[in-house]
Amino acid sequence: MAGVWLVTGGGGFIGSNLVRAILAKGCRVRVLDNFLTGFRINLAEVLADIELIEGDVRDPATCLRACKGAEVVFHEAALPSVPRSMEDPRASFENNMLGTFNMLLAARDSGVRRFAFAASSSAYGASEELPKRETMPLLPLSPYAADKAGGELYLSMFYRAFGLQTVSLRYFNVFGPRQDPTNQYAGVIAAFASAMIRGRRPTIYGDGSQSRDFTYIENVLRANLLAADAPETHGEVVNVGCGEAIDLNRMVAVLNEILGTNLQPIYAPTRAGDVKHSLADLSATRALLGYEPPVRFADGLRQTLTWYRHAIETGYGGWAKK
Ligand SMILES: NC(=O)c1ccc[n+]([C@@H]2O[C@H](COP(=O)([O-])OP(=O)(O)OC[C@H]3O[C@@H](n4cnc5c(N)ncnc54)[C@H](O)[C@@H]3O)[C@@H](O)[C@H]2O)c1
Repeated sequence: MAGVWLVTGGGGFIGSNLVRAILAKGCRVRVLDNFLTGFRINLAEVLADIELIEGDVRDPATCLRACKGAEVVFHEAALPSVPRSMEDPRASFENNMLGTFNMLLAARDSGVRRFAFAASSSAYGASEELPKRETMPLLPLSPYAADKAGGELYLSMFYRAFGLQTVSLRYFNVFGPRQDPTNQYAGVIAAFASAMIRGRRPTIYGDGSQSRDFTYIENVLRANLLAADAPETHGEVVNVGCGEAIDLNRMVAVLNEILGTNLQPIYAPTRAGDVKHSLADLSATRALLGYEPPVRFADGLRQTLTWYRHAIETGYGGWAKK
């Protein structure tokens, strides 16, 4: 029988969606999460079908326990926030950089077949050229971005030095169901959607002309499953985006259109560490994985709004009441 597929950070937004996608494939799933930013309710419906290890990737022994018998590792656990890392660089380093190193070592020592890493487009940082190609220099603007870039380097080295088949997936602003809108570092779509559904005005940091390649969660799941099933990987780094640039003013306009509202944004000062524009070139991802984003931005946004409406009505996880 095939081994277990391990999802670190499986209680979080991306991880908990990935858990469901892997279960739908018929594979056995193990989750490692300390629920620092994730939620137990994200796993409530699938708890009987998975093995849950409540623990921390900062602890090498826990990483070894989680990797025992694992065939594939999807390393999603992180403190996933640029502003949070600006405030507490050490916490970012320990969770994001050291945590990744611990997981790589444990995977190597447990004979894992494939290791996929949740890398980040923030690693491109101050490089201004668009669209972003993987061959461009990395100029991180925040501890978080540097930790993610460092993780990629470690993944590629683990292939060359130790033969562990690794692959880094550079996610571009992911959004969709189960993304937490409440903490002060929330993803922008989660924050805007949950505010505007309640008739509240969204806050834009800056003038709203900054743009992102907003990527619906289904696209990220597709890339991960392709990365797990690819015949071989050799430490490659590939973008995972949608290939469409949307600026924040436009985003608010589209949300107003779908919701039938006319809520004007509140403009606040730009945040340190934020990049101005971001857009993925997907040719390397197509070549390596045969990846095509299955869901376009507007369709993903509609599905996301439907989910947030339902979550707010049902009081999902407590946060929906806030
Ligand atoms: N959401 C995005 O737009 C985006 C973009 C680029 C990269 N990423 C990366 O994708 C991954 C998942 O992000 P997300 O948006 O789902 O965030 P999330 O906060 O919802 O999920 C992260 C999960 O990791 C867990 N975690 C944190 N520190 C841990 C530790 N030390 N040990 C064990 N578990 C720990 C959290 O409890 C949480 O469940 C992260 O690695 C993030 O850096 C996300």
